[in-house]
Amino acid sequence: MQTELKRALPATIVPNQPITALAPMQDVTTLPFMSVVSEIGSPDYFFTEYFRVHVQSRLEKHILESITENQTGRPVFAQMIGEHIEHLKRTTQDLLQYNVAGIDLNMGCPAPTVYKKRCGGGLLKEPEKVDRILGTLRDAIPGLFTVKMRIGFEDTHNFEAILNLINKHDVDLLSVHGRTVKEMYRSQVHYDCIKLAVEISDCPVLANGDVSSAQRSREILDYTGAAGVMIGRHAIRNPWIFAQIRDFESTGKIRRVPLQDVYQYVRSLYDTLQRPWITEKAHVNRMKKFLNFIGLGVDPQGQFIHQARRAQTERELFEICEKFMLSGTNTYFADEPYEGLVARPNRE
Ligand SMILES: Cc1cc2nc3c(=O)[nH]c(=O)nc-3n(C[C@H](O)[C@H](O)[C@H](O)COP(=O)(O)O)c2cc1C
Repeated sequence: MQTELKRALPATIVPNQPITALAPMQDVTTLPFMSVVSEIGSPDYFFTEYFRVHVQSRLEKHILESITENQTGRPVFAQMIGEHIEHLKRTTQDLLQYNVAGIDLNMGCPAPTVYKKRCGGGLLKEPEKVDRILGTLRDAIPGLFTVKMRIGFEDTHNFEAILNLINKHDVDLLSVHGRTVKEMYRSQVHYDCIKLAVEISDCPVLANGDVSSAQRSREILDYTGAAGVMIGRHAIRNPWIFAQIRDFESTGKIRRVPLQDVYQYVRSLYDTLQRPWITEKAHVNRMKKFLNFIGLGVDPQGQFIHQARRAQTERELFEICEKFMLSGTNTYFADEPYEGLVARPNRE
C-alpha cells in the first residue's frame, strides 16, 4: 500500500484533466525559462534538460539549479542520458539526494554525437541493453521512474519490444515523441505509434510531437487515448499553451493572447535569462533562439523574424518588438504558427 502511494504521479493543477508537461530542451528548459513559463501558466510537470552520464560525469550545476532553486510550485523530473549502467545508477543515486519528482531516462536524442555513443536515440537499436538499463534503474529508484523515447531508430521494428520492456520494468510514465531518430524534428508525427504505445503500455503515456495548440492537444488526446501531452517548441512560441489547454478542457474556450502580452513575454525572457557575465551582443543572439519560435505567431509574412534576426543590441531588438507587437496592424498572437514560416533555431 505504501509503495503504491509513493509511486502515484503528482496531481495535475486542475484535478482529472489530462497531464501537461513542458518537454525537456537543452539550453532552453533552464531555471530562468521555467520561471518565466510558470509566471504565465505552468505545465503540470517540468523536465530538466538531460544530465550527461559517463565515466567522469558529475551533476552539471546549471541543470541542478533547475531542481534546487525551482520556485514554480510544480514538480520537476530530472532527465539523464547515458548508456553505462553503473554510471547511470550512480547518477540516479546522486539525483535522488535532491527534490526531484522522478528520474527520467532519455531514449530519443537524435544528435549523431549522442547516438553514435549508443546513448539517447542510439539505445533504441539495442533492446537487450535497454532491458538491462531499465532493470537496474527500476531497482535503484524507489519513487517515480519515467522514460522519454522516440518510436525507433531508422524504423519501428523494435518499438513493441521496447514497450514490453517498459511494462516489464514497471516504468511509471512514458513520454513518446512520435518520430524515429532519423526523422529528427520535421517529419509528420506518427500519432498511430503513440496510440499503439497507449494500447500496449501499463503506465500513462504522454503524447509528444507538434502539439501546437489547445485544440490540437484535444484532437491528439482523442486519437491516441494518451493520458496527457508533452510540449516543447510550441511552448517556446506560446507559453500560454498550458493555461489554454486547461481552459479549453474545462470550458471549450480559449483566451486569445494579445500581442502586447507577447511583448511582455519577450521582455521577461530578456531580463530573466540575462547573466552579468554575458555581453549584450551575446545575449541578444541567445534571444534569437526563442524569437525564432515566437515570431511564428507574430505576423504572417515573417517580417518580425526576419528583422529580429538582424538585431545586435537590446535597443534594436525591442524597437522591432514594439513595432510589431505594440503598434503593428495585428492585435493578437496567432494560436497556430502562420503557414509557411519555419523556425530556424541555432541548434535543435
Ligand atoms: C532545442 C531542443 C532541445 C532539446 N533537448 C532535449 C533534451 O535535453 N532531452 C529530450 O528528451 N529531448 C530534447 N528535445 C526534444 C523535445 O523534448 C521534444 O521531444 C521534441 O522537440 C518534439 O516535441 P515538440 O514538437 O513539442 O517540440 C529537444 C528539442 C529541442 C527543439
